[in-house]
Amino acid sequence: MEGEVRLQGLKRFKEVEMVREALRDDRKVMTKSSSVDLVTQTDQKVEQLIIQSVKEKFPTHRFIGEESVAAGEACDLTDSPTWIIDPIDGTTNFVHAFPFVAISIGFSVNKQSEFGVVYSCLEDKMFTARRGKGAFCNGEQLKVSDQEDIKQSIIATEFGSSRDPEAVDKIFSSLRNILCIPVHGVRGAGSAAINLCLVASGCVEAYYEIGIHIWDVAAGSLIVSEAGGVLIDVEGGAVDLMSRRLVAANSRTIAERIVKEIDSFSPLRDDAPPPKQ
Ligand code: IPD
Ligand code: CA
Repeated sequence: MEGEVRLQGLKRFKEVEMVREALRDDRKVMTKSSSVDLVTQTDQKVEQLIIQSVKEKFPTHRFIGEESVAAGEACDLTDSPTWIIDPIDGTTNFVHAFPFVAISIGFSVNKQSEFGVVYSCLEDKMFTARRGKGAFCNGEQLKVSDQEDIKQSIIATEFGSSRDPEAVDKIFSSLRNILCIPVHGVRGAGSAAINLCLVASGCVEAYYEIGIHIWDVAAGSLIVSEAGGVLIDVEGGAVDLMSRRLVAANSRTIAERIVKEIDSFSPLRDDAPPPKQ
């Protein structure tokens, strides 16, 4: 498909150059929902560039973009072809020049993921997946780890951007439970999209988080499933990308073992109606 060809060539696109240039310059930091929910002009410009260039080719397609939603657009996933865009996943990393920053683009039709692309800008790794056609990194096919013993595993997670003490307590309680299984280690790249690509690449056995948004995981979740992994909710049911909760693992065994240790909670859904004024 033409759109996919364009995405495969994302490395050569000015969106990527824009991110790399901004990393060399001063980055003016603004905040969104709280003092730790960061955004820069680069996030906004990259999203606009992607939307404009897709619109030129596919004028009827719809978009869910992190910065457009922050500016008041609805986060509405319908049956129409929809591009789900995180212009910079790992914005806090980007602000601090911590070297894991990705551009993430998912594409859904009838609410089903059709393809996903995550470009890890500083590692120069292009992860791609198309439904039923496998997942790839720089052209090489990806396969999840075959380790099914949680005690021989590394698990990825993040602290997220909520500083609500009750949520933080639950995040730490889950982390403590998982560490003390014990697992070999716990890691986090600071980018949900890159964490998912680490699962798909077999570098970690699983990644879980409560508090992510659909744009953080739309592309990466397809990359995991096309690499042979599984996606479930933190309480074990079917995954719902609007629910802001996700366990992605190399196998159902590992995913269900993690679920047992998670002290779950439910953040406000991405598709929740805006609060009444
Ligand atoms: C965030 C990153 C982070 C994760 C947060 C996400 P952003 O996305 O993926 O690793 O912990 O939940 O919201 O704000 O950098 O696009
Ligand atoms: Ca982002």
